[in-house]
Amino acid sequence: MRTAKLLILVVGIIGLALVATSFERRTVGAQQSKASGGSDRLVVQLCDGETKLEIADARAGEVLPPEKAREVARRMMAAYAEQQAKQVSKWTARDRLTWEREQKRVIEEGYKLFHDWRALGGTIGISCDMCHPDAAATHPETYPKFQTQLKRVATLRDMINWCIENPMKGKPLPPDDPRMIALEAYITSTRKGVPLEPGKH
Ligand code: HEC
Repeated sequence: MRTAKLLILVVGIIGLALVATSFERRTVGAQQSKASGGSDRLVVQLCDGETKLEIADARAGEVLPPEKAREVARRMMAAYAEQQAKQVSKWTARDRLTWEREQKRVIEEGYKLFHDWRALGGTIGISCDMCHPDAAATHPETYPKFQTQLKRVATLRDMINWCIENPMKGKPLPPDDPRMIALEAYITSTRKGVPLEPGKH
C-alpha cells in the first residue's frame, strides 16, 4: 500500500517536471498551429537551435520574395532577441563549467591524436608531432588561404587531411569526424590570442 502511494507520488513529480520543461521549451514568437491536422505554413528553426518560428503568411516550400524575406528575417531576429533576453538568467555557472570541461576534453583528445599515428590511420609509424612539435608551423590562424599543393583556397581541415594522406600515408577524415574536430580544437588552441590573418603566407 505504502509503496503504491510512493509510486503515484514519484510518477506525479516526473509528470509535473515534464510539463514544466515542455512549457519552458515552448517556441517564442510563434503562433502555435491550432489543430493537430498540421499546417502547411512555413516553419523555420533559428541558428540557436531553440527558437522556432511559424510564418503565418508564408507556405511551406515557398521561396520568399526579397522584400518578404527581409521582413521574415527581421521577425526571426526579433524572436531570437526575445529568447536571448531570457537566456541571460537561463545559463548557470554549472552550464559554463560543462562547456569548459567539454572544450578541454576535446582539446586533450586532439593532443593525443596529434601524437598517435595509429588512431589517425597512419600507416608508416609517423605522427603529426614528429614534424610539428607542439603543433609548431601549423598556422591555423592563416586559414582559409591558397595552398599551392592543393591549387585552391583551402581550409585548416584540408591541410590536416593533406598531411594525413601524404607524409602519414593514411586516409582522409570526413569533416565531421570527431577526430578531425579534436585535431582542429587542439591545433587552434595552441594559437589562442593570435590575430586571425586569413590568406597570410
Ligand atoms: C613528415 C612531416 C609531417 C607530418 C608527419 C605532418 N606534417 Fe603537416 N606539414 C609538414 C610540412 C613540411 C608542411 C608545410 C607545407 C606547406 O605549408 O606548404 C606541413 C603543413 C601543415 C599544415 C599547414 C601549415 C601552414 O603553415 O599553413 C598543417 C595545418 C599541418 N601540416 C598539420 C598536420 C597534421 C595535423 C599532421 C598529422 C595528422 C601533420 N601535419 C603531419 C610536414 C608534416
